[in-house]
Amino acid sequence: MQKIKVEIPACPKSSYTIAIDNDFLPSVLSQIKKLLPGKELFLITDVNIAKTKHLKNLLGRENVPRFIISPAGEKSKNIKTVTKIVEEMEKKSLGRDCAVIALGGGTVGDIAGFVAAIYKRGVPVIQIPTTTVAQADSAVGGKTGVDSSISKNAFGIFKNPAAVFIDVNTLKTLDEKQFNSGLVESIKHGLIADANYLTYLQKNLKGILARKQKPLEYIAVKNCKIKAAVVGSDPCEKNKRRILNYGHTIGHAIESASNYKLLHGQAVAIGIIAANIIEQKLGLGGKERLQVLKRLFGELNISLKIPKNITKRQILDIISRDKKAVQKWPRFVLLEKTGKVLCKNGQFAHQVERKIVEEAINILIKENY
Ligand SMILES: NC(=O)c1ccc[n+]([C@@H]2O[C@H](COP(=O)([O-])OP(=O)(O)OC[C@H]3O[C@@H](n4cnc5c(N)ncnc54)[C@H](O)[C@@H]3O)[C@@H](O)[C@H]2O)c1
Ligand SMILES: [Zn+2]
Repeated sequence: MQKIKVEIPACPKSSYTIAIDNDFLPSVLSQIKKLLPGKELFLITDVNIAKTKHLKNLLGRENVPRFIISPAGEKSKNIKTVTKIVEEMEKKSLGRDCAVIALGGGTVGDIAGFVAAIYKRGVPVIQIPTTTVAQADSAVGGKTGVDSSISKNAFGIFKNPAAVFIDVNTLKTLDEKQFNSGLVESIKHGLIADANYLTYLQKNLKGILARKQKPLEYIAVKNCKIKAAVVGSDPCEKNKRRILNYGHTIGHAIESASNYKLLHGQAVAIGIIAANIIEQKLGLGGKERLQVLKRLFGELNISLKIPKNITKRQILDIISRDKKAVQKWPRFVLLEKTGKVLCKNGQFAHQVERKIVEEAINILIKENY
């Protein structure tokens, strides 16, 4: 028998810059060209964003080949859309020396990142996020992918962007429900990493909701710093990165049980309340924090009601199939206090007795908190 050893060189260390400003889209294309000299550009956006001024602001008079995803949103986040985009890029004779620009929310960003990761074995992607979810969360961290008919993000790969450009002015055209729901990820960042940031959000919510430039820039910077620090310490989600899933275990289950009728942020808000109930049951405290959260979610007009047709059994079934479940039971990220995640023996996600989780779900369904 012959044995051949293949030595894989370590992945080169990579880094990228996130530029945050207000109303600077008209200068972004020239910045991209400077960053990626000689690359042919291909733009991916969706039908709603194509109707706003943002596309024109970004491209000016340049005729960049493009693909406009239609319909917008999760319905298009599948492999068929990926195939259509790849074939469109081939028709435009784009080679490995091209780069993809994603202008849009998390849906566009996830699809475009995935396309860039697989096109001709990988081309750079530039993320230009335009929603509160994308600016706080999805454009940073390199998770990309699309859904199968069975589950979310079933096709997926890590693909770090070459750069991220956050123009907070793009948020001005976002629908109110989407805008508010996306802010739940900012609240999550305060909870897991920075109590002062949570206080800032409480004190400045009015300005944020009025979409004032300064607070929008402030939260964009804070969100990116918090997410970048976590992702930088654990890019492939072996351990610490899981803290970004705070509130998401039960949140995702409720989102999925609602057939994605609930917006992600609303489902996560309910999941954050669930985590708080579990924390209280485990003697970790959090009673005062619960009042703060209820007030904040109320001010965002986010209903914490679980739709009547969703049962405790359904939620338990779904969490037992959680991607990160061990022996059909998920691990929970919990807070030791506001701004600090519980870490035991170096682990950031913890086993919680089924009985406690069941009790928490009962309380959640009855809104008895
Ligand atoms: N990769 C990650 O780490 C990560 C993290 C969080 C969420 N996600 C994914 O992100 C997706 C959700 O993203 P989303 O909440 O941004 O939703 P989205 O991208 O579907 O956008 C929501 C709606 O707002 C519209 N829109 C976007 N920007 C606009 C603007 N500036 N003005 C007017 N309309 C605008 C879109 O056309 C769409 O109809 C999900 O698929 C989720 O799985 C990924
Ligand atoms: Zn989320």
